[in-house]
Amino acid sequence: MIQPKTVTAGITERVFLTPEPTSLVLILATLVLMLRYLTGRPLGKMPPVLPNAWPVLGHLPSLGLRADLAFQKLGKKYGDIFQAQLGTRNVVVLNSYQALKDGYIDGGDAYNDRPDFYSYQLFSDGGKGTAFADDSPAFRKKRQFIMKVFHHFGGGKAHEQLDMNIGEEARKLVTLSKSFNGKPFDIQPYVTVTTLNIICSMVFGKLHDYDDEDFGRVMKNLDNVTKNMINVGVLNVFPFLRHIPAIDTSGREILDNKRKIMSFVNQRIEEHRATFDPDSTRDLVDAYLKETQTSAGRSELTDDELAHIAVELMVAGNDASSYALQWGILIMALHPEIQEKVQREIDVIDPSTPVSISLRQHLPYTHATTLEILRFRPVTPINGRKTKRPVKLRNYELPADTIVLSNVYNILHDPESWSEPETFNPDRFLDSDGHVFVPPQFKPFGAGRRTCTGQQVAKQMLFTIFTTLMQHFTFKLPEGAPEPDTEGTVGIMLGPKPFKICAIPRH
Ligand code: HEM
Repeated sequence: MIQPKTVTAGITERVFLTPEPTSLVLILATLVLMLRYLTGRPLGKMPPVLPNAWPVLGHLPSLGLRADLAFQKLGKKYGDIFQAQLGTRNVVVLNSYQALKDGYIDGGDAYNDRPDFYSYQLFSDGGKGTAFADDSPAFRKKRQFIMKVFHHFGGGKAHEQLDMNIGEEARKLVTLSKSFNGKPFDIQPYVTVTTLNIICSMVFGKLHDYDDEDFGRVMKNLDNVTKNMINVGVLNVFPFLRHIPAIDTSGREILDNKRKIMSFVNQRIEEHRATFDPDSTRDLVDAYLKETQTSAGRSELTDDELAHIAVELMVAGNDASSYALQWGILIMALHPEIQEKVQREIDVIDPSTPVSISLRQHLPYTHATTLEILRFRPVTPINGRKTKRPVKLRNYELPADTIVLSNVYNILHDPESWSEPETFNPDRFLDSDGHVFVPPQFKPFGAGRRTCTGQQVAKQMLFTIFTTLMQHFTFKLPEGAPEPDTEGTVGIMLGPKPFKICAIPRH
């Protein structure tokens, strides 16, 4: 029990209460339990927290706009698993391939939820579609459905059609680029329309003409969504700022533009209903109509869910693919010797032969260059998940609902895994026989159970469009132009900053 201890200090006698050891243990245990109950966190078993957090802002002031690069530096001092405070949100960071493996990969489905970020919730209307939804039986059915559709495009007639569509769009990009006669121009919007049209062809079954008014409007709407998502991103870490009118306006802009895209998608669903043939699946919408013919598919898949899936493919899938290609063009202009080596390999093909994914096995250096583009400038430098239940991570215990970010950038630039990681070098993906070799640390499409569902299509587009461009042009920076920035600009993804390029025709 608690006993008084008397101490004499100068002229005053003061009384201190000193607990017995057993009482101390009981008090501490009660405090721990109370804190654990109040915070939901198991004390003493969480990864170390980075020092010097500011009140309210946490570590944001020291992380700056490129948290991936800041984490990369901090990891050298604080190890490969640590906690950071992003505004009001605490997150655990997996900062190496081994940490990623111990977490997302070996943790099974424990890391299957997505962070409950404001922008994710707003965009997905509280978790509709797949990309921003938490794990649940309904989510699994939706993801399975998308995987089945992408599998459909991975073989047979659908694959041939997709291959042809990618080739056709790549040639349109060549024609558009040729119209600048080697003069400097901004290729970024042309690349974006190319990849968007290909994704739309998988969703709606046809390529749109660039002067199609509906398609033009949808492109504008998508662009507005992407731009406003950047503003709304601040609410992910400071949710209380949503009362600021300018930020609230961005939220309303996202909803308004998304509603317009959804109405475009809904019109396409109605057109498909009128021409639906259960024996021939033209695209994602047909696959949906087929799936919902059976009662099993009907409960999870609705017109509204399908529209959300279509919009997320058009936003996330398109931005990622377009940025990867834009990086590829810029990097080639900055590395003429690698561009030349790619062209020498491609030149065994007659320039009038349309490029197709089937050529990839014959062009290992070109294939390796596309992989190095994805490694050198990963378009999703940080990837976010949330634990759906308590999980052990090494000797730590993460409770349910812990936000766990993986630093994709550092995983792809860690000198432990990659020699001279800051050098652009496609040879790292070739073995001694000149065959393409992909090390396990290559994870630009995520890891574990929620990896990118569109990765095959993404690689197919990147290879075919990149190779077609290399077949027809040498990319050069404008004469006398200052060295362009290669750090990039982070919006919802990591894209290159605006740049001008000269596409010099080769034939
Ligand atoms: C270079 C191109 C691309 C890159 C680098 C990329 C990368 C990623 C990454 C890192 C994730 C998160 C995975 C995780 O949490 O582990 C993701 C998710 C996703 N990606 Fe991609 N992506 C690309 C292109 C595409 C394309 C073309 C599509 C579809 C047309 C697509 C559809 C999706 C979807 C639907 C998800 C969410 C998966 C889920 O949460 O279950 N992506 N992507």
